[in-house]
Amino acid sequence: MEGRIQAVRGMKDILPGEVETWQAVEALARKILEIYGFSEIRIPLLERTELFARSIGEATDIVEKEMYTFRDRSDISVTLRPEATAGILRAYIQHGLYRTQPFQKFYCIGPMFRYERPQKGRYRQFHQIDAEILGSPDPRCDAELLAMLRTLFEGMGLRELDFQINSLGCRSCRPSFKEAILSFLRDRETRLCEDCRRRLQINPLRIFDCKVPQCQENLRGAPQTLEHLCGPCRDHLESLERHLNSLEIPYTVNSLIVRGLDYYTRTIFEVISSDLGAQNAVCGGGRYDNLIEELGGPDMPAIGFAIGEERLVSLLLEGGRQRSRPPLDLFVVAVDARAESEAFLWLDRARRLGLRAETDLRGGSLKSQLRRAHKLSARRVLILGERELHQRRALLKAMDSGEQEEVPLDRLEAQMAEWVQGLREEK
Ligand code: HAM
Repeated sequence: MEGRIQAVRGMKDILPGEVETWQAVEALARKILEIYGFSEIRIPLLERTELFARSIGEATDIVEKEMYTFRDRSDISVTLRPEATAGILRAYIQHGLYRTQPFQKFYCIGPMFRYERPQKGRYRQFHQIDAEILGSPDPRCDAELLAMLRTLFEGMGLRELDFQINSLGCRSCRPSFKEAILSFLRDRETRLCEDCRRRLQINPLRIFDCKVPQCQENLRGAPQTLEHLCGPCRDHLESLERHLNSLEIPYTVNSLIVRGLDYYTRTIFEVISSDLGAQNAVCGGGRYDNLIEELGGPDMPAIGFAIGEERLVSLLLEGGRQRSRPPLDLFVVAVDARAESEAFLWLDRARRLGLRAETDLRGGSLKSQLRRAHKLSARRVLILGERELHQRRALLKAMDSGEQEEVPLDRLEAQMAEWVQGLREEK
């Protein structure tokens, strides 16, 4: 016998039992994103490689080591999206969306791909809930994103999350920081890893991301972006902090976060959970005021974030907040083959009215069908046999109390409609 085929390493199935928690997360996220004025945008999983190389940055781990890149049959280099921001901007520019409405808010939910070393909280296919505000430099945008994240996490019952912010400055203050870091590292350069020596030339900020302990060691006491902010960048950060304070959003300024993508300017942030182990960021984001222009669009500032759904779901599961399928409203039993077709008809009527209804499509004895009803936690069981049909009646059993009653078939549809009404009121 041939061996069984396994899923590709780092790519995870989300099975029934866990998927209900994912559905609840996504339903709540959509609801809150819509409340905050975001519109959904769906972009391809595959883009031209150049889009990511130019936006995320040539010297980043993502572009250097982690992209799923291949040539398609037309010999074009394409890449499975490692994140959503670049694709959203490509669509915004390609369709000239800024012409009709320069200020836009988008969200996108779906899988991303990075060839990383798999471990808890780190996969090669993972999912993000991504939100972007395009077209305003106002620090209220930054505060609004953090406020929305608070609403979302609170709605999920997660309160112990740490919001960390930092500012990376802008085109006018970044050179002075770069200068400072280069001069700090000048006599330490030989002690850096090979990657970092190369990064030093392209984007010294990337060295802060290096996982090699010796590089981290050599960065102790290094200059920080916050010390080099120009006046407008400092004002921007102070204004953001004022808004966060007035909205009563707890946060910490952490000058050590730099983010792993090159496009950021000014505000960057991460949402950290101490319950996640090594991969402790459940969300990351920031401003990218030059990126739209760099990708050939108008000169327009923007900011966004992405939540890692795997990490969010794992926090919910570990905190005992998993969701399960709601119980069945009705299970229909056909006592024998002669009642099957009538039972099948009532099953369909129940579903068309909006009841979660099921039967046992394998047939089987009355006892085995009732066992299945029990297993599916059906609230009620409708039993149809030859005798009931002859009398145009059905037997209805409430599973919690065990009470049984006979319902005339000409009353059954009205009865089902009442259950539907009751369900609506329960919600
Ligand atoms: P990022 O920090 O690369 O940012 O990813 C955001 C979040 O996605 C992370 O905080 C983490 O929760 C999750 N994540 C990233 N890689 C993996 C992985 N291999 N396995 C599981 N989860 C992962 C971005 O992607 C930016 N595009 C965010 C953004 C939007 N910035 C502005 N707009």
